[in-house]
Amino acid sequence: MGIKGNRITLGVAGGIAAYKAAELVRLMVKRGFEVRVIMTTNATRFVTPITFQTLSQQWVRTDTFESHHPQRVEHVALAQETDIFAVAPATANILAKMAHGIADDMLSTFYLAYSGITIVAPAMNTQMYLHPATQENLRTLAERGVVVVDPQEGELACGETGPGRFPEPAYIMERIMDLAYEKDLEGKTFLVTAGPTREFFDAIRFVSNPSTGKMGFAIAREARMRGARVYLISGPTHLTPPWGVDFIPVTTAREMHERVTSLFPEVDVVIKAAAVADFSPVPLTKGVKLKKEGIGQLTLTLETNPDILAHLGREKKHQILVGFAAESRDLLQNAEKKLKEKGLDLIVVNEVSEGFAMDTNRVTILRKDGSIQSLPLLPKEDVAKAVLDEVIPLLNKRGSKDSLAY
Ligand code: PMT
Repeated sequence: MGIKGNRITLGVAGGIAAYKAAELVRLMVKRGFEVRVIMTTNATRFVTPITFQTLSQQWVRTDTFESHHPQRVEHVALAQETDIFAVAPATANILAKMAHGIADDMLSTFYLAYSGITIVAPAMNTQMYLHPATQENLRTLAERGVVVVDPQEGELACGETGPGRFPEPAYIMERIMDLAYEKDLEGKTFLVTAGPTREFFDAIRFVSNPSTGKMGFAIAREARMRGARVYLISGPTHLTPPWGVDFIPVTTAREMHERVTSLFPEVDVVIKAAAVADFSPVPLTKGVKLKKEGIGQLTLTLETNPDILAHLGREKKHQILVGFAAESRDLLQNAEKKLKEKGLDLIVVNEVSEGFAMDTNRVTILRKDGSIQSLPLLPKEDVAKAVLDEVIPLLNKRGSKDSLAY
């Protein structure tokens, strides 16, 4: 299961944000898309076509009458070879042309010749964006099924502050991926946990671990893109929650326990990638910062935290439970023990030195029937995909009598 089609045509219109479209092309190519860029004449005043040509490795279309094959009507042929059409940045001018069917250059002519998935990311001066004409054009396009990525609020290149700012390319990429993915998890609800927990022993000092949340966020993003409703419960991280997930920030293991157990009855799948602290210190003060004066040595007494996953394993009815295990040695033996003791359907084991705080991970997935799948070192996005691919057959099997007899 994956994306519906990997051919994107990106329209770049003439606004200052045109330079940010270069990063968007880079992300598209990184994600495996074949990208063809159409620039308006005004866009070429901000960035040269060679930038996009270099990044996409494809010639850049700027003129309706230019074609590299004598028999090819470029705007029509390209429309037939496009799975997703994105316009980013979309200026007030191109939005007006699209809304009213004006075809006076390559980009607007392409739009009329194309009938598939279309997404626009408006970026312009606040007054131009808020103008009733632009708003009306955006409504018309949305009613026609065009996905509109709302611009952000903030300081604009023209010096004004307000809505109109081009969103981060990574965010636009996420919206495009969401449109591109096949929805094999539609109708399913996932609860994913991510990140570390913090266990405080005074007002500001805590015990924690180096988890960044990257693994859990990648799983939440992948599940969302594949059509699931996703709750992402995360300890403190620096990451932006993926678009479209219900994000629930927590700090301590006990908070995570509370939020996870209250959502548990309504979910189909739980994937616990969080590095939950097994112990928390007995607080040394009541909400104030401990003074260091006079303290030569500090002893912390650690209490055992609730094991959230083991608790879910005892309570589970219809739910599929996937745990992670971070191990320093005897990976498979330790993971198998956790799989059994916590009542899991799958466990994903990684070595401590390879799982934490990296963009990549090397995991082995252990199934309840004793079979395993060892994966090479992969970007965490690919690990997330592999884990969800393992969950699908379990979800499909769940409807049968056999699988309900846990
Ligand atoms: O966040 P990153 O920087 O991307 O790093 C990813 C990761 C290394 C944190 C991730 O891949 C990972 O291994 N997560 C699990 C780490 C862990 O806590 O492993 P564990 O073996 O201690 O726990 C086993 C399972 O029980 C885990 O699913 C954990 O979420 C769960 N658990 C543990 C303790 C506890 N009190 N409650 C739990 O639910």
